Amino acid sequence: MKPLWTVFFFATIFCLSNARADNLLDGADSGYGEYLSGECVTCHSKDGVDKGIPVINGLDAEVFASIMHAYKTGDMDHPVMMMVANRLDEEQIASLAVYFAALPGTN
Ligand code: HEC
Repeated sequence: MKPLWTVFFFATIFCLSNARADNLLDGADSGYGEYLSGECVTCHSKDGVDKGIPVINGLDAEVFASIMHAYKTGDMDHPVMMMVANRLDEEQIASLAVYFAALPGTN
């Protein structure tokens, strides 16, 4: 029975981690994202002009959400963005991701 259990165990882990990636944009609401973006655009140019802070307009929504989660967990290390990301829950990150992804980027 042991090998079978092992297979089952890893299959479950695999499914769970897969589901997580799919859920990255769950509950996303672009209107809510726009509302939340007010704080972000004090640093990130709304017009897509990079003045030393990266432009986040037009970033792929999943990439955007992954980056925000990386700041949250500390995998990406930047004091300001870690503080910003820590205050956001999954739904808020998803909403910001779809909102910014829909904005025209510079390049
Ligand atoms: C106080 C200024 C400030 C605020 C407010 C701010 N950011 Fe940032 N953000 C930065 C800086 C600076 C970087 C670049 C960090 C680095 O170089 O690692 C960054 C990086 C990012 C990145 C990664 C961009 C890339 O291409 O790597 C994303 C995504 C991002 N911010 C999203 C947001 C969102 C969403 C908000 C609002 C909830 C927000 N930021 C609010 C300053 C800010």
